[in-house]
Amino acid sequence: MLDDLYAQAVQAAERSYSPYSHFRVGAALKLTNGQTVTGANVENVSYGLTICAERSALVNAVSQFGPEVRIAAVAVANLNHAASPPCGACRQVLAEFILPDAPVIFPTADGPRVTPFTDLLPLAFDMKL
Ligand code: THU
Repeated sequence: MLDDLYAQAVQAAERSYSPYSHFRVGAALKLTNGQTVTGANVENVSYGLTICAERSALVNAVSQFGPEVRIAAVAVANLNHAASPPCGACRQVLAEFILPDAPVIFPTADGPRVTPFTDLLPLAFDMKL
């Protein structure tokens, strides 16, 4: 299942809009409703307005399936043969919708790594803590 999700993240990276960094990232989310949604990074000439692939995919998921969506697994890939674990901002945004133990697969220098989400962002900001 994660291999297939990773392949979909690679396909999503093909749709990246990244004329400034040339770093082409894709993300694929497996939802608890069985659906898969993808996203790519979308850059902007005002660099700080760039949206990462992971948040792009998440916004896509909520837009398609509504606010009850929950994420069961995440894959991140890039076309640059580089490591790309999800950035801190994306981890916090994913935390809103993801199951704590959901596997996250992402590229490292040693190849794809799988980590439970809770290990990537222990103690996410949460006003109910
Ligand atoms: N990027 C992502 O899409 N996801 C991440 O988790 C980190 C970085 C994008 C943002 C920018 O377009 C490019 O990679 C270089 O930072």
